[in-house]
Amino acid sequence: MTPRNETPRHESKWHPASWRDQPIRQVPSYPDASALEAMERKLARYPVLVFAGEADRLKAQLALAGEGKAFVLQGGDCAESFADFTSNTIRDTFRVLLQMAVVLTFGGGTPVVKMGRMAGQFAKPRSSDTETQGGVSLPSYRGDIINGPDFTPEARTPDPSRMEFAYMQAAATLNLLRAFATGGYADLHEVHRWNLGFVARSPLADRYADLARRIDETLRFMAACGMNSANAPQIRETDFYTGHEALLLPFEQALTRDPSTHPGQWYATSAHFLWIGDRTRQLDGAHVEFMRGISNPIGMKVGPSQDPDDLLRLTERLNPRNEAGRLTLIARMGADKVSEKLPPLARAVARAGRKVTWICDPMHGNTHSVFSGAAGAYKTRSFDAILKETRAFFDVHHAEGTVPAGVHVEMTGREVTECLGGAHRLSEADLSGNYATFCDPRLNAEQSLELAFLLAEELKARRADMTGLPLRAAQ
Ligand code: PEP
Ligand code: CO
Repeated sequence: MTPRNETPRHESKWHPASWRDQPIRQVPSYPDASALEAMERKLARYPVLVFAGEADRLKAQLALAGEGKAFVLQGGDCAESFADFTSNTIRDTFRVLLQMAVVLTFGGGTPVVKMGRMAGQFAKPRSSDTETQGGVSLPSYRGDIINGPDFTPEARTPDPSRMEFAYMQAAATLNLLRAFATGGYADLHEVHRWNLGFVARSPLADRYADLARRIDETLRFMAACGMNSANAPQIRETDFYTGHEALLLPFEQALTRDPSTHPGQWYATSAHFLWIGDRTRQLDGAHVEFMRGISNPIGMKVGPSQDPDDLLRLTERLNPRNEAGRLTLIARMGADKVSEKLPPLARAVARAGRKVTWICDPMHGNTHSVFSGAAGAYKTRSFDAILKETRAFFDVHHAEGTVPAGVHVEMTGREVTECLGGAHRLSEADLSGNYATFCDPRLNAEQSLELAFLLAEELKARRADMTGLPLRAAQ
C-alpha cells in the first residue's frame, strides 16, 4: 500500500524527464556523462522529424484497425545500420511493404495501415550486458545509435555522438520515404514495377503478376468512370508511417516536444509510433513512465511471461482515458505458446473494456540457433513457425471474439538468407549464402510476399465469416 503522505508514482506529474526517477533496464553506460548531456542539449534544439498531426492521424487509423476496419502492416529491419544506409536499401524495403500492402488491400479487401520499422530503429535490448570471445569480455553491441558491432573496445564503448548520426540518418530516410509515398513511386499504376528483381524470378511471381493485372483492370474501369490519379489522390499516393522501439530514452526525451498546435500535449517526434519492448515493460520502470506521457500512438510487446492482471494495469497506465488507437499490443508468444498464452490476455483486456489494437509479431518468439558449416552458429527463424504463430493468432482472436488487427514483421527487400523455408525452401546449409542482418534474422522479399498472400486469405475468410458468406473451409 502507498503510505498516505506519498503520492502514488503514476499519479505524480509526468514530464519528459520523469522517467529518470524510475528504475531503468537495458541502459548503456556512457563513460563520459558530460558528452552525453551535451549531445542531449544539441538534439533538443534540432527540428522535429514528424509532425504531431501525423501521429494523430495514425492513431485514428490504428483505432479503425482495432475495430476490424483496417489492417496494420508494420515491418522493417530488426536493426537499421549506419553501414547499410543507401537509397536502394530503403527503396527495396519500402517496395516490398507496398507489395504486401497491395496484396492485403486487394486480396484481403481491407485498407492497410502501413508502418516501417524504419527511420529510427537503431537501439537493441540485449540478453547480456557483455559479450565474451576468446576469454575477452566487452560491452554487448546495443545498436548503431549506441555503439558499433565490431568486437573491439573502441567500437563497443557507448558513444553519444552516434545519436547525432542516427538523427541525421532517420531524417534522410524519412525524407526518402515521404518522397516515395507521395511522389509517384507508390502510384497504383506502378504495381507491376514494384515486382522487379528477386521476386520477379520467384515461384510467387505469377501470383503477384495476376494480382497486378486485376488491379490494372480495376484502374481502367475506375478511369472509365472518371476516377484517376489526377482527381483521386488515393490512387497516386499513400500514407506511410514510421515506428521504432523507444529504448534509448535520452534520445527520445531530447526529441519530445510540446507543439504549439497541440497545447498542453507532448509528442515524441523521432517517429509517429513508438513501442515498449518485452524486456522493458515493467509497470514502475522508466520506459513505461516515459511512454505514458507522450500523446503519440504507442505499442507494447506482450511476450509469454506477461500476466493478465499486470497487462490490465499496464493498459490503464499507458492509456488512462481508454482512447481507441492509443495502445497497440504486439503479441510475440512463439508458435508453440500462442494458443495457450494469448487467450487469457485477450479475454482479460476485452472483459475490462480496455480499447486496444492487437497485432501479431510472429518473429521474436521463434528465434533459434543452428550450426552451419565453418561459420558457426546462425540465429534463424523458420517460415513455418512464423506462419503457424500468425494463424494461431487469428484463431485465438476468432475464438475470443476479439480483433486480429495486424502484423509486425522483421523483413527486408533484399535477397537475404536469414530465415528458413518459404517458397524457395531455404535450408540450414543456405544460411551462409547471404546472411546480412546486424541483429535478428529477417524475412527476405519473397518470404514477406508469401506471408502477405497467406494473410490475405485469412482476412478474406474473416470477411466472409462476418458477412455470412461461405467460410474458409468451403472455399
Ligand atoms: C524487437 O522488436 O526487435 C525486439 C527486441 O522485440 P521484443 O521486445 O519483442 O523482444
Ligand atoms: Co528483432
